[in-house]
Amino acid sequence: MKAFKKINTNEHISVLYVEDQIDIQEELSDILSMFVDEVHIASNGKEGLEVFQKINPDLIITDIQMPVMTGLEMISEIRKKNKTIPIIVTSAFNKTDYLLKAIDLGVEHYLLKPIMVNKLENCLNKIKTYLFQQRELEAYQHYLEDRVEEEVVLREAKEALLIEQNKSYEIGQMVSVIAHQWKQPLHYLNLLIEDLGMEYDYQPLTPEYIKDFIQKGTNRIQFLANTMDNFLSFYKTNKNKTNFFISHVVKEVALFLEMSYKSQGIHIDIIIKDDYALYGIENEFQQVVLNLINNAKEAFDGQKRIDAKITIVISIDEKKGKLTIKDNAGGIKYENISKIFQLEFTTKEGGNGIGLYLVKKIVEERFKGSIIVSNQEEGAQFELEFNINEGNKNV
Ligand SMILES: Nc1ncnc2c1ncn2[C@@H]1O[C@H](COP(=O)(O)OP(=O)(O)OP(=O)(O)O)[C@@H](O)[C@H]1O
Ligand SMILES: [Mg+2]
Repeated sequence: MKAFKKINTNEHISVLYVEDQIDIQEELSDILSMFVDEVHIASNGKEGLEVFQKINPDLIITDIQMPVMTGLEMISEIRKKNKTIPIIVTSAFNKTDYLLKAIDLGVEHYLLKPIMVNKLENCLNKIKTYLFQQRELEAYQHYLEDRVEEEVVLREAKEALLIEQNKSYEIGQMVSVIAHQWKQPLHYLNLLIEDLGMEYDYQPLTPEYIKDFIQKGTNRIQFLANTMDNFLSFYKTNKNKTNFFISHVVKEVALFLEMSYKSQGIHIDIIIKDDYALYGIENEFQQVVLNLINNAKEAFDGQKRIDAKITIVISIDEKKGKLTIKDNAGGIKYENISKIFQLEFTTKEGGNGIGLYLVKKIVEERFKGSIIVSNQEEGAQFELEFNINEGNKNV
């Protein structure tokens, strides 16, 4: 069994002692000081109430019959504020009707006058045990609450880091796609400028030539700028929750990835049967789609298929919003299929094994959806499902 950390609780006990008879008061307070740490005295119920409010004692010992305010009246006032503080009433043996009233007020202990020291000690010991247990329980509860809070903070920080890592990895990949995309137009611009130089050397520049030069040049520059704009707007971090159409995200991601897919001969087919809106952080959903499409793309690595295809279907089935992403890259090995959502499971050289872990987390926790994977005839298929009952919002 797991050993729990011993919680240190304080064992200090303070007592409020209320008694109007001075001789008894003096005698008992001396005896009490032997068993507890602090004894505060009051001579009637009213005074007792004032001291109670001032010092908030751990325990009350009170006589019943007193001038100004009786012990029972005082207890009744105290119980309005504190339902659990242990109270001992002291009473003569012929006043049992008072004791019954005291029991009604939640008094669990009484001592018959004259008070015997051993009886008092017994009674105090019982109450101390109870108080120490209560304190230990409370301290342990605080300790647990602190631990839970710490764990939650740690877990959130770890997840935020994972999301960032995964994102930086994707950004890294995209930067290389952009660099690749830029090479060709830059090369073209270079040729255009060289050509201008040669034209200028050998023949006079005609207005037509200049017009054509400007048009071709700005055209390529526009292309370069657009590629960069797309990249920046795609990676803008917006943490606000909104309603967004699923088709919008899928199209945006597909368009963004298009250039890198085309160059690999992979075709992306988007079929929108029924569109629906999701509610949440759009950027996070983008990451889901991006990871799933990227995994499909990476599954084609090293293959020389001429019909490589990723099919994405958006539909509504029995009031559930669905998103299916499948490829024809051969599927996932039988022995791996149960592990692919685990953190750091990867079969790729240089892979992180973060992608699908995050996908599942975002789908289930942020969008209250589900994701299942299966192998179809030609490749892997990921099916996502969301509740869309409340208007068009997923709940
Ligand atoms: N469409 C797919 N076809 C075949 N195998 C897949 C497919 N999608 C995922 N897998 C398998 O699941 C594993 C885990 O995928 P996951 O996206 O979590 O990590 P990864 O792609 O290896 O690394 P990264 O963290 O860079 O995404 C992959 O290594 C791969 O073996
Ligand atoms: Mg991946």
